[in-house]
Amino acid sequence: MNNTQHFDAVIFDLDGVIANTAKFHFLAWRQLAEELGIHLPDEAESRLKGLERMASLELILAESDAHYSETQKQLLADKKNKHYCRLIETLTPMDLLRGAGELLEQLVIRDIPVALASASKNAAAVIERLGIAERFTYIADANRVQNPKPDPEIFLMAAQGLNIAPAACLAIEDAAAGVESINRAGMFSVGVGNQQELGEANKVIGSLNEFSVEDYFKS
Ligand code: G6P
Ligand code: MG
Repeated sequence: MNNTQHFDAVIFDLDGVIANTAKFHFLAWRQLAEELGIHLPDEAESRLKGLERMASLELILAESDAHYSETQKQLLADKKNKHYCRLIETLTPMDLLRGAGELLEQLVIRDIPVALASASKNAAAVIERLGIAERFTYIADANRVQNPKPDPEIFLMAAQGLNIAPAACLAIEDAAAGVESINRAGMFSVGVGNQQELGEANKVIGSLNEFSVEDYFKS
C-alpha cells in the first residue's frame, strides 16, 4: 500500500504496543482481586486494557458488593502497583513486542522524532529495562496528565514536547480508549490488535512488524 499522507513524527503507547506488559498489569490486578476474594474473569483483561490505575481498580471493585473508602482504594492501588513492579523486574529486551525494536531503530535511523504517550507511571522503568529509553525524544509524563485516555491530553502533550503539529503526528495504540484519544487529538491513528476492537482507528495492523515506515514517512 502506498499512503498519500505523510507524517513528521510518531507517538507510541507503551503497554501492549511496544512492551509485552499488558499481561503483567492483568496478573497484578488478578492477584489483588484474589486477595479481596473477587474472581476476575479472563475477559476482564480486554476491558482493563489501557485503563489508568484508579479506573482499573474501580472496574475490579465493581465485581464486589463491599464498600471501600477513598483511603482504602489508594492503599489497594498501591498494593497492585507493588505486585506489578515485582513482575516487571523480570523484563528484558526479549519482552519487546514483535516488530517494536526494529521499527524504533528504523525511525531513529531516519531521524524521525519519536515520543511516548503512556498512562503508566512505571513507563520510564519499563523502557529502561527494555533497553529502548534513548530511542525517545520526548516522554509525556503520566504524572502531569489531568485527564486520562480517551481524553486527547497525553497525545497532545507528546506532540507539544516534540514541537510537531498534532496533524503531522501518527500515533499507535492497542486499546480502543487510546485510539479515541489519538483521533480526538487530530492525529492519524494506527491500532495494533484486532479490527473488531479497534475499528475506529485510521489503520489497523496485527503487530508492529506489519507497519511499513515507507508508507507514512518521506525518506
Ligand atoms: C497503561 C496500561 C494500563 C495501566 C495504566 C496505568 O495505560 O495500559 O493497563 O493501568 O497504564 O499504569 P500504572 O503502571 O501507572 O499503574
Ligand atoms: Mg496500551
